[in-house]
Amino acid sequence: MLFEPLEIGALKLKNRIVMPPMATNFGLRSDRAVTYYAERAKGGAGLVIAQATPIDVFQKASFVAGVARLVEAIHAAGAKAAIQLLCGNKLPSGEAVAPSATDGMREITRQEIRDTVQRLAFAAAMAKEAGFDAVNLHGAHSHFAQEFFSPRTNKRTDEYGGSLERRMRFALELVAGTRAAVGDDYVIMYRHSAIEYFDDGITIEDTLPFAVALENAGVDVLDISVAHGPGRKDYVMPRKNMPMATHADLAAAVKGVVTRAKVIAVGRMNTGEVTERVLREGKADLIAVGRQLIADPYWAQKVREGREAEITVCNACNKCYKRLHNFLPITCEVNPLVGREWEVANGTLTDVDIAALRVKTR
Ligand SMILES: Cc1cc2nc3c(=O)[nH]c(=O)nc-3n(C[C@H](O)[C@H](O)[C@H](O)COP(=O)(O)O)c2cc1C
Repeated sequence: MLFEPLEIGALKLKNRIVMPPMATNFGLRSDRAVTYYAERAKGGAGLVIAQATPIDVFQKASFVAGVARLVEAIHAAGAKAAIQLLCGNKLPSGEAVAPSATDGMREITRQEIRDTVQRLAFAAAMAKEAGFDAVNLHGAHSHFAQEFFSPRTNKRTDEYGGSLERRMRFALELVAGTRAAVGDDYVIMYRHSAIEYFDDGITIEDTLPFAVALENAGVDVLDISVAHGPGRKDYVMPRKNMPMATHADLAAAVKGVVTRAKVIAVGRMNTGEVTERVLREGKADLIAVGRQLIADPYWAQKVREGREAEITVCNACNKCYKRLHNFLPITCEVNPLVGREWEVANGTLTDVDIAALRVKTR
């Protein structure tokens, strides 16, 4: 099933493999970034979702024109391209706000909420103009939109806080604003944290009606992740000691309540067998393969051709992610060529250099 095509409205995917959004610190327009993403597309992923991108960068025409080159490269390599849009906690003025006041952040006003919806909608329209086949609205991983949905961080007493229905409002307005900006025949994905590992956080009981509401508001694809837990990032990026297909049952629960929307499962699925099983059991329509595509951009092709023994396996060390927190470009413990694909492409790195780098990582 992994290599069966899937149609989502006008978007025709050649298979069920999605490269989920993963920050790189390579930018999106550099040769390094373009070649890095194109390599994953060439390696067989059906859909490549570019990393979380702050919405206000789309205000710059030079960014929109520049990022079109990334889209072209992904398309030329045989995949469809999407981009994740991130509303952060910062207003265009630079001031930090939150759904409810917290240390160092004041509560966002209703007017500023309306402005945020417009800023996101504009970014989505510009992403479409740049050629992206879909947008992925970032409602997960403890970012701003998730903070609105979570009873832990949203203590508002107006129409945006309190009951479950009110906590949904911000996200639903984001979706409605995006839909108005991109038109009917364009794919909107929403990344959501199905649970938050805090006693007073998001539960699956909150998530299921939310998924239905998102679908009714016009979301085509629900991308089901989890939130960061107390002091731990490894819930989102499951470590080696966590089970394979870590969050697939949450995706399955969502798939059980929606009718039209497609569902993406994510979390440590890096063998053909595990991904096929999740699809066969009807837990999801699409499989996000994250760190494994950092470790081996040709994972999909190797699975399809029965060459799994040749796969460079991700060891879930999370070195890639840790580097981001030190404001460094990602690297990989098992793949020394991450971020250097363009040096291979332009001949700066010779076969001898590559062989030496590979020996070093063994
Ligand atoms: C280096 C790195 C950067 C990430 N950046 C993002 C991001 O920009 N947006 C997002 O929604 N998730 C991000 N994630 C989470 C991944 O999309 C994915 O959900 C997670 O890695 C689990 O999938 P995996 O086990 O297949 O790696 C990132 C993960 C990693 C390792």
